[in-house]
Amino acid sequence: MEERTTDLTLDEAGQGDPGVVFSETHRAEALTATIRPNVVVLFGATGDLSRRKLLPGLLNLSQAGLLPDFRVVGAARKRLDDDGFRDFALDACAEFGRRGFDEEARRRFAARLSYVNVKDGPAPLAAAIARAEQELGPDAQRLLYMSVPPGAALALVFLVAEAGLAEGSRIIMEKPFGTDLESSRALNDAIHRVFGEQQVFRIDHFLGKEAAQNILALRFANGLFEPIWNRRHIAHVQIDVPETLSVGTRGAYYEETGAYRDMVVTHLMQILAFLAMEPPTHLDPLAITEEKNKVFRSLRPIDPARVVRGQYEEYRSEPGVGRDSDTETLIGLRCEIDNWRWSDVPFYLRTGKRMAEGARIISIAFREPPQSMFPEGCGVGAFGPDHLTFDLDDYARLSLSFYGKKPGPTMELEKTSMQFSRAEADSGGDSLEAYERLIRDAMAGDHTLFTTADGIERLWEVSAPLLESPPPIEPYASHSWGPRSLVDLIAPDVWRLPFARRWRG
Ligand code: BG6
Repeated sequence: MEERTTDLTLDEAGQGDPGVVFSETHRAEALTATIRPNVVVLFGATGDLSRRKLLPGLLNLSQAGLLPDFRVVGAARKRLDDDGFRDFALDACAEFGRRGFDEEARRRFAARLSYVNVKDGPAPLAAAIARAEQELGPDAQRLLYMSVPPGAALALVFLVAEAGLAEGSRIIMEKPFGTDLESSRALNDAIHRVFGEQQVFRIDHFLGKEAAQNILALRFANGLFEPIWNRRHIAHVQIDVPETLSVGTRGAYYEETGAYRDMVVTHLMQILAFLAMEPPTHLDPLAITEEKNKVFRSLRPIDPARVVRGQYEEYRSEPGVGRDSDTETLIGLRCEIDNWRWSDVPFYLRTGKRMAEGARIISIAFREPPQSMFPEGCGVGAFGPDHLTFDLDDYARLSLSFYGKKPGPTMELEKTSMQFSRAEADSGGDSLEAYERLIRDAMAGDHTLFTTADGIERLWEVSAPLLESPPPIEPYASHSWGPRSLVDLIAPDVWRLPFARRWRG
């Protein structure tokens, strides 16, 4: 999509907190100059995601000088006026923002916010947006952010259409993009009645994480890894995202989704695609999407016999949760990719709430040598295979583990590792929080890190056997590693977490 450039400088646009120094200011200015002023219409503005990520993210981007001029129209069902929403947003930024902000920054951010109640129908919505657009001038572009549960998105798409706001807008849709194949097709069809596919940005914030994009850099910017990135050298892959948090106030949302829809068919599958895809011809949306979708097309339907569903013991007493709920708060599964590169290489996925530790780990387990010349009992193989481990946390750590000789007179071997942390690299530049990165990309019209209707429908298609015949729920104690059957699921392989050895540093 062609972008017009604005001639606003950061200062004219009232951007750029003078108190904050950025190492890449000039680059930021150049990048920002290609984005038009935006009216961000935040549906679900008083919800959890908006409070924890979106409002603080918008403030952070603007303080970093990475946004053109903008307005935020909060749209939700709560009875609030503009001032009430401003207080809500400023409290959210104070609690969840990544850097402090002074009175002046508060005032400037608050002045950009307004609120409209979606229950009042299309006319007040259109009027609030028109006011915000008028303030930004004729170049203003509209970004509609649907931060609402799956059941609410469609009604809002029609509200937008009724208010005459679809044309020229971009729309960010939040996962899980339906709850099965049928509902996701219905959602996509409905969206396409109102918006062209080019206007739609299906967000998966895991793809906005620096560490996730680093998978592409590591694989395709080096000659070292790609030659061994296949079934001949890789024995299995784990994508493991245990969380310590409970569902908290999100019980009602969670009851509609559960761990599979909330995390697997979305985030974990997108990471799987980055790990498993063939080299794309270009670093552009079409080429990357095509390779990711080929992975999804090669995925075997999920076999319910290779899935473990767990529920933490207190889940049924959480607010918004049914007393006899069958929703899983933990899931472990084995996926298989039916292509030449990955035939017979299991991909194990696991995620759950209220587990013993919070982590986001990808482990690539390499095949062991075909023969050992080392004496029995010397330690070779005793600590599992060699691993390449990615930590998707902000430090974007990497570790390569291998066997080496212990110093001394005998041939005793130990497992050791080379580790790298982004924090050690003096590469300059501020990393953006995943949502910040993706909101900016949507404003710039860049689809590279967004998912497509085709890919998502295919993921629902392979999920059908599991959704139709889910295995029974197994209870697990809070702060544990889940039910015992998770261990059996991947035997004779073993889960890497909890690590025997911690990250260094
Ligand atoms: C969200 C899920 O998309 O991702 C949450 O809805 C989950 O349930 C969260 O906790 C995890 O994201 P992150 O970035 O904190 O790992």
